[in-house]
Amino acid sequence: MPLEKRGASYWGCCPFHHEKTPSFSVHNEKQFYHCFGCRESGNAFTFIKKIENVEFGDALKILAKRAGLEIPQRDGFKKDDADTLKRKERLYALMREAARHYHENLSKPEAAAAKAYLSQRGISGSLITKFGLGYSLNGSEMLTHLGSKGYTDAEMKDAGILAVSENGTYDVFYDRLIVPIINQFGEVVAFGGRTLIKNPDFAKYRNSSQTLIFDKSKTLYAVNLLQKQKQKQRAVPYIILCEGYMDVIALHAYGFDTAVASMGTSLTYAQAKQLKNFGTNRVYISYDGDTAGQRAALRGLDILDETGLNVRVIIMPDGIDPDDAVRKHGAAYYQKLLDQALPLPAFKIETLKKQYDLTDSQQKAQFAVEAAKVAKALTNPVEQEDYLKLIQTLTGYSLETLYRQTEIAPPPLRTETQAEEKSAEAPSKISAAKQFVLAAVAANKPYVDYSASFDFLTDEFSRTAITYFLTNRKEKQESTASLYEMIDETFWPSLGEIQHYPFTKGNDTQKYYTDCVYELKRTALQAEHEYLTRLAEKTSVPSEKLAALQKIQEINLKIQQLKHGGEE
Ligand code: UTP
Ligand code: MN
Repeated sequence: MPLEKRGASYWGCCPFHHEKTPSFSVHNEKQFYHCFGCRESGNAFTFIKKIENVEFGDALKILAKRAGLEIPQRDGFKKDDADTLKRKERLYALMREAARHYHENLSKPEAAAAKAYLSQRGISGSLITKFGLGYSLNGSEMLTHLGSKGYTDAEMKDAGILAVSENGTYDVFYDRLIVPIINQFGEVVAFGGRTLIKNPDFAKYRNSSQTLIFDKSKTLYAVNLLQKQKQKQRAVPYIILCEGYMDVIALHAYGFDTAVASMGTSLTYAQAKQLKNFGTNRVYISYDGDTAGQRAALRGLDILDETGLNVRVIIMPDGIDPDDAVRKHGAAYYQKLLDQALPLPAFKIETLKKQYDLTDSQQKAQFAVEAAKVAKALTNPVEQEDYLKLIQTLTGYSLETLYRQTEIAPPPLRTETQAEEKSAEAPSKISAAKQFVLAAVAANKPYVDYSASFDFLTDEFSRTAITYFLTNRKEKQESTASLYEMIDETFWPSLGEIQHYPFTKGNDTQKYYTDCVYELKRTALQAEHEYLTRLAEKTSVPSEKLAALQKIQEINLKIQQLKHGGEE
């Protein structure tokens, strides 16, 4: 991307969001980038991770290759030896050739039945090309072809295409429609082969076995198209995750071109992480409308949730899969299902509801117990309350009873970070004060009192940042790039803002700094005061109450002292 030098930084149009005037800055000396438009920021590694959708290890490899450096080998860290690397390269080439040839086969007269099958399922020429679909003519044709290209039987076996029976070698995908599985780098890593027979005695799909370049548990179908989509649109607003190849193909045909599939197995962390790497937060689960689909959903969905994705589940009518939904009822119908998708906890409660007869008082009680567990598992008290209210509506039990059931403590005080999250558009005064204090420390401003304690910075991000800045100051290190590796991704924008803090005549002063510190100390004490007051009110344990009241006295004193000091 073109960058233009302006002042101390380089500027260009942000590669992470659409814009016409540059708000993406790259700071050469400090080795990081920050976009003032979309708040993306990080260092060279985070940049490669984001732009190429890779994990840190792969980003490291990409950058090392570019810089002509070798990555040092660490104990317990397996590196491909030269031989394995060569075998992998051969396999990638073989698979690409096989995919190309299967695709070519589809235009031959012998593939008439396969072609008819596709057209009967509404899969047209352009879709065939987009997904690179193909056909295996028979048991030997592909093997002969690959042989003519110089590949050995052993290599074809390693690729998962050739198998051996009493009658000799054969193509495992024979007579099957071929769905190539392509990774985000555009490499063909596996094949799914669908039989054309309506109700076969054997498996409907035959997939590539595990190979040197294919691990089913780490692969998602159609991520190659998602990657293209991301490069075209800069950001993928949401991803639709379904179960089958055919679901993905149909959804794309109807304009839902961020659909991918987990290929029938339950989701793994590796897959969830891969989805998260596409920079999207929302994932719509679009499984089949039968109970099996729902059970599969429940298992994998927690994994997505734990990865930090916002999971919504599309409720599909029984017996219908996404493929049927768009083909029989159209894109608008599916869009409506998508719009009505349930957040994960709501989906879990909805699923439970179907398992109990709520007109039976015993079953209703059981339902309340199970549903309350869903609410209990949530970390956000506001959300917990919402879902307990939903259970209250469904069962008629009082909110107090449900709270007791969950053993959730009465709604705790909202912490400062939660309050900040809620008002992201209009940063609170506290957030501004915190930002300024951190920025001043990072910039080594002369008015910062380094001998003072910074214990009023209580949240994890501020603590990590302040510790880092203070240590680096002592060690006289300039670059802050490695700080990005230490803090959670969600705080990268905040860090970028601190490092690019707009110091002005109005704020770059001793007075402003002291005011900010005062404000932060006061708020920290006040929060503690409120918490203790609530504790003293709620607790029925006399000793606990007494301790809380004593602490409140101490805090009152501290607040008085602070006011006194602040006025000086
Ligand atoms: P589905 O049966 O929902 O497949 O299985 P589908 O894609 O909708 O296929 P059609 O519409 O019947 O042609 C979901 C996924 O599970 C895997 C495949 O990845 C499939 O796309 N699967 C299914 C297998 O691997 N083997 C099977 O025998 C069946
Ligand atoms: Mn289907």
